Amino acid sequence: MKTEHAPTIRRTDYQPLAWTVEAVDLYFTLDATATVVRNRMRCRRQGTGPLVLMAEGLERLSLTIDGAPAETVRETDTGLEIDLPDDADEAVVEVVTRCDPSANTELSGLYHSGGGLYTQCEAEGFRRITAYPDRPDVMARFTVTLEADKAAFPVLLSNGNLVDSGDLADGRHFAKWDDPFLKPSYLFALVAADLVVLERRETTRSGREVLLQVWVEDGNLDRAGHAMDSLVHSMRWDEATFGLELDLDRYMIVAVSDFNMGAMENKGLNLFNAKFVLAKPETATDVDYEHIESVVAHEYFHNWTGNRVTCRDWFQLTLKEGLTVFRDQQFSADMLAAAGGESARAVKRIEDVRVLRTAQFPEDAGPMAHPIRPDEYQAIDNFYTATVYEKGAEVIRMLHTLLGAEGFRNGMDLYFSYHDGQAVTCDDFVEAMSEANGVDLDQFMRWYSQRGTPRLRAEGRFDAAARQYTLTLTQVRPDGDAPLHIPVALGLIGPKGADLPLTLAGEAVGTVTTRLVELKDTTTTLVFEGIDAEPVPSLLRGFSAPVILELEEDDRRLAFRMAHDSDPFNRWDAAQRYMLRVILAMSADAAKGELPQVPEPFMSAFGALLHNEKLDPAYRAVALTLPAEAYLLEQMSPADPVALRRALIVLMRHLGERLADSWLGLDTRLAVAGDYRYHPADAGRRALRSLGLRYLCAAGVSQGVERALARATGESHMTDRFGALAALVNSPASAEAAIALADFERRFAKDALVMDKWFAIQAGAWRWIDSAQPALARIEALMGHPAFSLSNPNKIYALFGAYFRANPAEFHRADGAGYRFWADRIRDLNGRNPQVASRMARVLENWRRLTPALQSAAQAQIKALLADKALSADVREVLEKALG
Ligand code: ARG
Ligand code: ZN
Repeated sequence: MKTEHAPTIRRTDYQPLAWTVEAVDLYFTLDATATVVRNRMRCRRQGTGPLVLMAEGLERLSLTIDGAPAETVRETDTGLEIDLPDDADEAVVEVVTRCDPSANTELSGLYHSGGGLYTQCEAEGFRRITAYPDRPDVMARFTVTLEADKAAFPVLLSNGNLVDSGDLADGRHFAKWDDPFLKPSYLFALVAADLVVLERRETTRSGREVLLQVWVEDGNLDRAGHAMDSLVHSMRWDEATFGLELDLDRYMIVAVSDFNMGAMENKGLNLFNAKFVLAKPETATDVDYEHIESVVAHEYFHNWTGNRVTCRDWFQLTLKEGLTVFRDQQFSADMLAAAGGESARAVKRIEDVRVLRTAQFPEDAGPMAHPIRPDEYQAIDNFYTATVYEKGAEVIRMLHTLLGAEGFRNGMDLYFSYHDGQAVTCDDFVEAMSEANGVDLDQFMRWYSQRGTPRLRAEGRFDAAARQYTLTLTQVRPDGDAPLHIPVALGLIGPKGADLPLTLAGEAVGTVTTRLVELKDTTTTLVFEGIDAEPVPSLLRGFSAPVILELEEDDRRLAFRMAHDSDPFNRWDAAQRYMLRVILAMSADAAKGELPQVPEPFMSAFGALLHNEKLDPAYRAVALTLPAEAYLLEQMSPADPVALRRALIVLMRHLGERLADSWLGLDTRLAVAGDYRYHPADAGRRALRSLGLRYLCAAGVSQGVERALARATGESHMTDRFGALAALVNSPASAEAAIALADFERRFAKDALVMDKWFAIQAGAWRWIDSAQPALARIEALMGHPAFSLSNPNKIYALFGAYFRANPAEFHRADGAGYRFWADRIRDLNGRNPQVASRMARVLENWRRLTPALQSAAQAQIKALLADKALSADVREVLEKALG
């Protein structure tokens, strides 16, 4: 592990390497504690300077150049430098190293999990496997031979096509793999494990037969089907939407229990966190099914956007991530719409924006704020962020909005025709879009260097005499003056609730009711004609740009838009804004020690949505869900988590009590008959029923609690069971909650993925706030549970992550015990797994927004952690930025 202060790497310092690798042949003698890697590279000169190889934590056994022992080798901070004769343009370099997978607790490089060996190389894990110019702009042809004990490691997988395999002496065997495509080292992967496989043969659009495989541990085959279906759907979608086909004969997905992130797009051999592969109705919720579908799609889509065309350097990460998130969002939206209609598509957009606002907006407003194409970093692993991924996807979406689906497709075609097989930059992508469409995107490029969430101020003025409505839109950039190119979709709603036709001054009378306006100046004024009565503006429809809209709207207007806005996204957003306003006022009361009051008009507006049977259950479920607590905290100044929680408890109780009959009625009416199937219509009904149980249980309504207990402990599928359990744990009915938790534990004690849910639901539970046992005491006790493990990232995210992020009122305790616990966990995790530690360290980065007493308690812990010399570069970067 690197512990010393890491240097800052800058985007503008990019230099090509003097030596690149054209072909590499790897021979692995695999063993859990001592794996030997023989690496033979055919290197080619492309500039002046030594051959640079990165290496980390490797024991070097030999190094030869063109068959002779290397002489001029220098050790550097990051690996080796080798001087080669000035007149040499080519060299065959062979290096043999040894590493210990079982000691690799960082889960980067080659590591041991559940008896098998697995790799994770993005971003810089390959240098922990062998000495190599471990950068994405070095693209080589890989051949890989794996040799291992056959009994311990019966399955041997690597990238590309299997070209040879067989038995060796002493119970060993081997497999040789050849990847016909050039690739950077971060896309290398191997698996040596005892696994079983689900297989399917499909024919691509051009008629090639391909073998699809999902590899899982024995006993999990009945949970692999949904991942396989998702893979086939992804293939079909990319063929139909972008004309992109699978380019290999074989495509493999492997589920791993210990995995730092979600999944990894290694060429032809995707490695997945098991939670994004395994699903059956008894163990996975609708949300899990949805996530699996989108992560499988995401990794599959990377095969073109990421692998065939990759990044020149890690500053370009959003080139592949923003684009691929956009592609997976579009895919999921199309899948949902095909099964559940346009309303299902709107729900997907709402969910995506909810993630953006909850995770990315706070990041962009805090000390880790960075452009989607960052300018500098210390630990690249810290930059796999909501900004690079989610905001990056919003930037791509704006291009799609500006150019239209066809123009975007043309731009993609041109991008591939220019750059297939290359490592390129974000500029290359936007230039292809620009050229294919004959549009100037220079101003649009500013989105790539823009930091912080831009604001859009809107002001409307109605002139009855002139029958005109004037809308003034002003953009405010947090980081500069140069205006951005912002697409704004907008409409005007007439007094009766119908959209008005939009005619701008000087135009012929129009019929269109939603228009796309392109803002390029700091201030844009739009004059709409033929307007007879003051309209209500509906701006940024579909969330057409990742900005914060500032528009004065009173409660009446918000209620009006909640009832009438024809844009489903904005209708939802109106409800969110109204909820936000009510909750902030209630929290202010709570902070003063007063009993928060729920305004009557809000109750009517909420009730009207609940009772609107014309709206799909799925839509009502998202529309009636309160904004995430993390988002609310971000809007509060100072952020007072305990006051916020009091307000939420009162509001939830009120909504449950007052609307109890409606929730109960709907719970009965919307029950889904028959066996579980993953389908948006069914999922929507289940979501709305579970939401109803949450409100009912929060209010302690006895019929609601009874139904929740029955559903949590009865014979149902995981979606209903977990929905009911989640309702019970946030209920004053703590006896019922305890029964349900114990029942759940008894049923699933041996199922690690399901137990993650059990840990998380307790760590995030509200009510312990009023009971004898605070959440922290429960969490400390749960750390001793036999199903818990400090070496499994999913467990860390479930128990600690849920406490830090999903339970702010309990974490930000006035006595500072939450922060002390946090600091202890970071210290401990730092030594095991810096990437996981650093993610957990980030939960306090916005500490300056807290109340003064909490600020000083948090600051003290951050300072104490920073005094530790053994802190990893990952954690240090986060904490130093936090302290500012
Ligand atoms: N490329 C992977 C994906 O988005 C994620 C890799 C994350 N790596 C990391 N070091 N955090 O699918
Ligand atoms: Zn990705």
